[in-house]
Amino acid sequence: PLIAVLNGPNLNMLGLREPHVYGHDTLDDVEQICLQAAERLDVTIDFRQTNGEGELVSWVQECRGRADGIVINPAAYGHTSIALLDALQAVDLPIIEVHISNIYRREPFRHHSYVSQVARGVICGLGTRGYAHALQAVSDMIEDEG
Ligand code: DQA
Repeated sequence: PLIAVLNGPNLNMLGLREPHVYGHDTLDDVEQICLQAAERLDVTIDFRQTNGEGELVSWVQECRGRADGIVINPAAYGHTSIALLDALQAVDLPIIEVHISNIYRREPFRHHSYVSQVARGVICGLGTRGYAHALQAVSDMIEDEG
């Protein structure tokens, strides 16, 4: 199975960006965490990051017929993007949403995510290891439903 791991804006700045909130792992470290989880789960991952809303929408569209599941950290677009919600709604795949920080312990504008409306589950506040849990969950769903 192929699982797309999609990362939204500013996640390329992980490690440098507000380490008290997001920790010291870089995006490369996150990719390593995902690759290790993928090996353990016997799945393939396509790991990507973009700062562009349109690009993220296009990547979600590309998952149709190609990927078997999606792990997505939409970053700030989760709070703002109906376009991303629509794209995710149109791909009929198991989706798990990840946030590194606990968005419910932060500013009220982070408490709502459009993506949560289409995600099978949401993992937040577990730091970068949340991605490994998300991959486990999507892999289980693919196995159960395949
Ligand atoms: C984030 C949380 C979002 O509120 C924020 O805009 C991000 C990162 C997280 O992983 O904790 O960029 O998605």
